[in-house]
Amino acid sequence: MNVLLIGGGGREHALAWKISQSPLPEKFFAIPGSPGIANFAECVENISINDNAAIVDFAKVNAIDLVVIGPEAPLVNGLVDALNSAGIKAFGCTKDAAQIEGSKIFAKRLMKKYNIPTAEFEVFDNPDAAKNYINIKGAPIVIKADGLAAGKGVIVAQTLDEALNAVDEMKNFGAAGNKIVVEEFMDGEEASVLALTDGEKILPLIAAQDHKRVDDGDKGLNTGGMGAYAPAPIVDEKISALVEETILKPTIAALKSEGITYRGCLYAGLMIVNGVPKVVEFNCRFGDPETQVVLPLMEDDLLALMIDCANGTLTTEKISWLNQSAVCVIMASGGYPKSYKKNLPIDGMTKAKSLGALIFHAGTKIVDGELVTNGGRVLGVTMTAPTLQEAVDKVYRCVDVIHFDDAHYRRDIAARALK
Ligand code: AMP
Ligand code: GLY
Repeated sequence: MNVLLIGGGGREHALAWKISQSPLPEKFFAIPGSPGIANFAECVENISINDNAAIVDFAKVNAIDLVVIGPEAPLVNGLVDALNSAGIKAFGCTKDAAQIEGSKIFAKRLMKKYNIPTAEFEVFDNPDAAKNYINIKGAPIVIKADGLAAGKGVIVAQTLDEALNAVDEMKNFGAAGNKIVVEEFMDGEEASVLALTDGEKILPLIAAQDHKRVDDGDKGLNTGGMGAYAPAPIVDEKISALVEETILKPTIAALKSEGITYRGCLYAGLMIVNGVPKVVEFNCRFGDPETQVVLPLMEDDLLALMIDCANGTLTTEKISWLNQSAVCVIMASGGYPKSYKKNLPIDGMTKAKSLGALIFHAGTKIVDGELVTNGGRVLGVTMTAPTLQEAVDKVYRCVDVIHFDDAHYRRDIAARALK
C-alpha cells in the first residue's frame, strides 16, 4: 500500500519512523517532511499542509491508500473530509470532530452535557462580565481564548490582578480571543493519555508526561513542550481505568450522540486531582513530544492499527508495550519560545546515534549538504532503557555530544517521576 504523512515536526518524524517499521507500505511520502523524515519517506515540500485540494490531487495521482495527518491545523481545516469525499482513506478526525481541540467552548460544553470530569467554567463574550465573574470567584483562576492560539491562549492567573489583566490580553489572540473561557484552577499533577479510536472502540496508549515550561523546575514561559517521558507512573492501573471509563469512552460516545464519529487519535490532557483524573484539554491528534516517547515503546504495528481506525474496524483488544521507559529531551534554539537564530550548524549527530539515541528532527534543514537549525524546537533526543533512571542517564549522555550554538534544553526531564 502507499502512505502519505502530513507534517514535518518531531511528532511526524516519530510517526514516520514507526510507520516505516511496518511491512505494509510500498511507497511512503511526506508533505512537507523534514531532513529526518527523508530517511523513511519521499518528502514533497512544494505543497502546503493547509491546501486540501492540492493534497487530494497528490493522493490521487500517487494512488495513496492512507493519509496520516500529524498536526491539528489540517484536521481543523477539514482535510479528512476533503480526502474522504474523494474516496481516500485517512487517519485523523473530521472537521466536526476536530472542534474538540479547535474550540475550547465546544469541548467544555460537551464535557458538561455528558458529565465528563473537568474544571468548572463560564463563557463570556463581554470582557466586563468576565471580570465581574473573576472578582466573585477570586484567584487562582484560569483564563482561556476560545480558538487555536498556538498553545499560547491560556493564562493561569495566581492573583486577581493577573486574572483581570489576562482578560484584556485575550484581545491579542485575534479571532480566538473574541470569546473567553474562565475556568476553575485545578491543583494536581498533569499527564497525557492518547487513544486510538475508530469511533466505537478505543485503544489507550501508555500515559506520558510533558514538560511545558522552558526552564528547569517548571519555571519560565510555556512552550510547545521541552521533553517527555513514558510510562508516567502517576497514571497507575487504577487511574488508567478511570481515564478509560470516565473520560475516553464517554467522550467518544458523547460525540457519537452529537452525530460525530471520531476516528483517529484523541489526546486527553489530564490533571490528576487527589487520585481523580479530570480533563484540562482535548487535542484531536498525537501529542508532541509525547509521541516521541510513546511510539518507541509500542510493539504493535502502528500502521495496521491506523488502517483499522480509518476503516472503523478496530478489533485489537490491547496494545503490547516494551517493559521499558523512554525519555525525550528537546534541544531548542537559545531564546525560544521568544525570538531565536536559525541556520546554526548542528554537530555530533553521528556520535549520539552511535550511543543508541533516536534523534527526531523538529526544526532542521539542510543547507549546502550541512544540517542546520531551522526552528524553535530543533531536535528531540529519545532513549529507551529498562528503567527510567537509566533512560535519563543515557539520554543526557547523548544530548551532551550534540552541539549547536546557544542550544537550550532542560536538565530535569522526568525528575518528578524519579523523586
Ligand atoms: P491548555 O492549552 O488548555 O492545555 O492549557 C495549557 C496549560 O495551562 C495546561 O497544560 C495546564 O498546565 C494549565 N491549565 C489549563 N487549564 C487549567 C486549569 N483549569 N487548572 C490548572 N491549570 C490549568
Ligand atoms: N504536548 C502538548 C501537545 O502536544 O499539545
